[in-house]
Amino acid sequence: MKTLIVGGQIVTATDTYVADILIEGERVALIGRDLASTVQADRTVDATGKYVLPGGIDVHTHLELASWGTVSADDFFTGHVAAAFGGTTCHIDFANQARGHSLREALDAWHARAEGKAVIDYGFHVSITDPRPEVLEEMAQLPTWGVTSVKLFLAYKGVYQLSDGDFFRVCRRAAELGLLPIVHAENGDVIDILVREALARGETAPIWHAHTRPPQAEAEATARAIWLAEMAGAPVYIVHLTQRDALAAVANARARGRPVYAETCVQYLFFTAEELARPDFEGAKWVCSPPFRTREDCEALWQGLARGELAVVSTDHCPFNFAGQKDLGRDRFDHIPNGVPAIEDRLIMLYHAGVHEGRLSLHRFVELTSTAPAKLFGLYPRKGTVAVGSDADVVIWNPSARHVRSARTHHMNVDYNLWEGWEVVGRPEQVFSRGRLIVDGDRFLGTPGSGQYLQRTAPTLL
Ligand code: URP
Ligand code: ZN
Ligand code: ZN
Repeated sequence: MKTLIVGGQIVTATDTYVADILIEGERVALIGRDLASTVQADRTVDATGKYVLPGGIDVHTHLELASWGTVSADDFFTGHVAAAFGGTTCHIDFANQARGHSLREALDAWHARAEGKAVIDYGFHVSITDPRPEVLEEMAQLPTWGVTSVKLFLAYKGVYQLSDGDFFRVCRRAAELGLLPIVHAENGDVIDILVREALARGETAPIWHAHTRPPQAEAEATARAIWLAEMAGAPVYIVHLTQRDALAAVANARARGRPVYAETCVQYLFFTAEELARPDFEGAKWVCSPPFRTREDCEALWQGLARGELAVVSTDHCPFNFAGQKDLGRDRFDHIPNGVPAIEDRLIMLYHAGVHEGRLSLHRFVELTSTAPAKLFGLYPRKGTVAVGSDADVVIWNPSARHVRSARTHHMNVDYNLWEGWEVVGRPEQVFSRGRLIVDGDRFLGTPGSGQYLQRTAPTLL
């Protein structure tokens, strides 16, 4: 199958130019002017007046995650459909090691979830929760299984949290093996005490989720993760960074020349803890960890993106329905499933508030949503750019289309949208996954099972 995309403005992290693209099979075969005069294609798509972008890469998602006594509402089919409608053609999910089990068992369990359902390409980080000596040994296998990043938790005491000693041991082993440690940085011990004390006082409302996870718990754990990784000789990537002091810790380390990276998630650029105080338990829709912070923190994150202190914008997509799932915590905030839906909104909201409203350049938008994720997580240049030889994961983006975000029209399998009723400018119109047109306007054309597992290579440290 040959597809010719003509007349679009190709945008990469570094270049913008008008050219035609020939897709042959799964790859970009040619880029040039006036290709229609020399190439016979099976299908021609007119992209005049549109941007042609590399497909988005979301490196932080939780599809079909069993947690808080329920399961996140998007699986590897519905989540992929939603991702595709939002211009995302690749994601990396988390295979969580269960205590007493091996890393291979975790990966097998997550491969089974994706089997036969995947529409876009996907990879896995492995979360190490039980680093017994044999598990540290087993880490050597991860690159052969296509996994080049390991997730470590300094939060969720009694579930996923590692001691500082275990964290250090895993980082040192990761450094030996060329793996990238990625970290949920909040002080789980302090949070555990604050939650117990709040419950003992009878504080049960969603806002207490934010009150019991203070910004200092994130700032402290971020700084600690950075120093522990440095002592272990490892690079480190902080996931879902939400606030200014944690950002300062990352910026300081980078100023010292350390290989320290951080992502924020698109929702943290928009919302504050005030959302959790909404009446009638509606605040539960915004319960996620770390919690939403203040308007000043949102502003600091935008500046961190523009200044290059933050490397990536992801989502931490972990959707739970308001009715029937968030409900589990009606009587106590610590039983509210943690997580929000955003996989479909990421590019749209970042483009609208970032590029359209003038906070980010178009190149930086592509870098944050596709190129840097591809480089840091061992997918570049197969993914993350529009170039001859790269996978034809291509998004045709209409920069002036106005539309309204709503749970009534989104494709995520969840009964609310964080940006309900917001009018935004810019959206994907056509989405190609390895040369297959999977979204055309409002129509979904993908096939379950066509998404491929990605064998990732070593991280390219930026
Ligand atoms: O609230 C969140 N973030 N839920 C997903 C698990 C995690 O910590 O990333
Ligand atoms: Zn987390
Ligand atoms: Zn997460």
